[in-house]
Amino acid sequence: MSPQSAASSAEFADAPPFPRRRVCPYEPPAAYTELSERGPINPVTLWNGRQVWVVTSYALGRALLSDPRMSSDRSRDEYPSMAPNLSAEAARKLVLVGMDPPEHDVHRRLLSPYFGLKQARAMRPAVQAIVDELVDDMLAKGPVADLVADFALSIPSRTMFALMGIPDDEAEFFESVTSGIMQGADAEGAQQAGARFVAYLDQLVAAQEQAPGSGLIGELARLVVSGELDHAELVQITMVLLIAGLETTASMIPVGALVLLDHPAQLRGLQAGTVSLPVAVEELLRLAAVTDFAAIRWAKEDIEVDGHRIAAGEGVVVSSPMVNRDSAVHDDPYAFRIDRGSRKHMTFGYGIHQCLGQNLARLQLEVAYETLFRRIPGLRLAVPAERVTVRPVGTMQGVRELPVTW
Ligand code: HEM
Repeated sequence: MSPQSAASSAEFADAPPFPRRRVCPYEPPAAYTELSERGPINPVTLWNGRQVWVVTSYALGRALLSDPRMSSDRSRDEYPSMAPNLSAEAARKLVLVGMDPPEHDVHRRLLSPYFGLKQARAMRPAVQAIVDELVDDMLAKGPVADLVADFALSIPSRTMFALMGIPDDEAEFFESVTSGIMQGADAEGAQQAGARFVAYLDQLVAAQEQAPGSGLIGELARLVVSGELDHAELVQITMVLLIAGLETTASMIPVGALVLLDHPAQLRGLQAGTVSLPVAVEELLRLAAVTDFAAIRWAKEDIEVDGHRIAAGEGVVVSSPMVNRDSAVHDDPYAFRIDRGSRKHMTFGYGIHQCLGQNLARLQLEVAYETLFRRIPGLRLAVPAERVTVRPVGTMQGVRELPVTW
């Protein structure tokens, strides 16, 4: 079969819309399954009418995400915009995640030492204290509680603030600006949220440059003082870390809790200690990936894969829920098996941009689930599972609220 590009292919005509709204908060829409049955890579149509390739095969996803001909440069028009809010400049001019080597590697090298396994482990007591306080408040208030507003939202913000040295009382502001960028209905709203975000960080970072504090921003501010980094770069780095670290984890915590509540027998194994917590978290990450696109790229040159030609300039999206359910990798891939014990998923992406904060994310998920189901053993949904409202289609999939009782 001769290679075809999305722009010239007959397949192009019936490229289905992507992404789609989920019906179940942790299952991909049926249309994605149909797509993966057609083959490992297929054209789809984005909200703005642009056609891009969607990859549903784990092996092909890995191959493309380690291919230096694929670019993450978000400042270029070739970079696919997955939702209206993501076409705002605030979402397109992102350092690190939106850069290619060699610029990407400079920032990654700078930040990696703060995000290793050891550094995440050192955060455990702080995360445990945050989660315990939230559970105390839920218990004091009594049922019903909302696992989104009363629990999940505060864990990543307070964890990131502790790591970075930002005062806790700024949580509401940061939640509003990060969700304004990531969940905003349009580019204008996202851009306004981005401008408020940058203005605030500008002052925060400047203050730390005058008198570096003990958190990560303080550490990096010392590099500005010594001339290794400049002020604008540090503002951008701080913004990327907060955008990447808040909304993702806040979306994942309740969706993972819902999977556990929907599988009570397996949850009991976790509560009884017969299932390893890190193994359970890994399976939750595989099954309940909160973004439909682990990685978005565009081709710098023509690339031939699997009988298709990805033409230079065309976009490629690796679908996390589908590559995570590749039957060539997992038996019974749609089933939740709490003791599956496989790390073969792309919820954190793959290759040079693979999630910098994954150790911290895993830590927060572990502490959140262990504490929640230990301290409130009778926790259950307060509404029938089918009445749990899913978020509108956008950057992060998930639930709007998760009412629970005990
Ligand atoms: C469950 C929670 C999380 C999920 C699902 C997630 C997912 C991802 C994914 C898929 C990527 C790759 C993007 C790409 O290839 O274009 C990524 C990158 C990144 N993540 Fe996360 N993430 C999570 C939590 C965090 C946390 C807690 C932080 C904390 C700082 C963080 C910081 C980053 C950064 C800085 C990058 C860019 C890395 C680079 O470009 O080199 N993430 N994340």
